[in-house]
Amino acid sequence: MSQQQHVPRHIAIVMDGNGRWAKKRFMPRLIGHKKGVETVRKIIRRCDDIGVECLTLFAFSSENWKRPIEEVNGLMALFVTALEREAKALFRHNVQLRFIGDRSRFSNKLQSVIADVEQLTQTCTGMTLLIAANYGGRWDIVQAMQKMIQQVEIGQLQVNDISETTLQPFLSTADVPPLDLFIRTGGETRVSNFLLWQIAYSELYFSESLWPDFDESKLMQAIEDYSGRQRRFGKTGDQVVMGEN
Ligand code: IPE
Ligand code: IPE
Ligand code: MG
Repeated sequence: MSQQQHVPRHIAIVMDGNGRWAKKRFMPRLIGHKKGVETVRKIIRRCDDIGVECLTLFAFSSENWKRPIEEVNGLMALFVTALEREAKALFRHNVQLRFIGDRSRFSNKLQSVIADVEQLTQTCTGMTLLIAANYGGRWDIVQAMQKMIQQVEIGQLQVNDISETTLQPFLSTADVPPLDLFIRTGGETRVSNFLLWQIAYSELYFSESLWPDFDESKLMQAIEDYSGRQRRFGKTGDQVVMGEN
């Protein structure tokens, strides 16, 4: 990376394409998911190395429960083994790991492994790694609304004061930088109920690569592409060049 200032502060990735990767090789879908975990490790490491402050990975959507039970169970087992295996390495790299999403539907075992890794890494001050599991963008907005309305009920907040700024602290991404770059692998050009509120002004990047084939060089290509874009946030291009506020 030539210019440090072009590294996105926050990258989110829809890690799509594991199933098709396996199918192409006449292998069970779960082998694709296992292979995908290797990509996760590589991408975390590279993001950490180049100074990304927050990486958010979509591991399991609130809609993925609709998949065949064997695949769902296989994915849950894979989360447990991957977390148990990677926890110490994350800690060593000073990465703070947190889960976002509704974890109450997970098994007690998975919930306790998640709690352990979160506790182990809670004092880490390097990159923040958010794993979105049983996550949905609509769910995130609804749970934030519920918490905000509780504030109204106890008189901490007035209805007339409700704004985008007052909702923000209740979202599951409250304390991480704004989402700069949204990547989806696997060739589909949709959001699939990932971070809906947060992508309002993110740059979107779609890769044809299936997730197990996505690697550091493809990540760097996405960042290169992002670096070449002019983010206008509603202004004109000339205003941005002149550095007007
Ligand atoms: C994404 O890969 C991983 C999860 C949803 C857990 P897919 O499993 O959706 O792979 P494709 O889209 O079927 O290839
Ligand atoms: C989105 O991928 C969810 C994850 C990558 C975890 P899907 O494969 O579930 O998305 P759709 O169903 O193709 O929209
Ligand atoms: Mg998919």
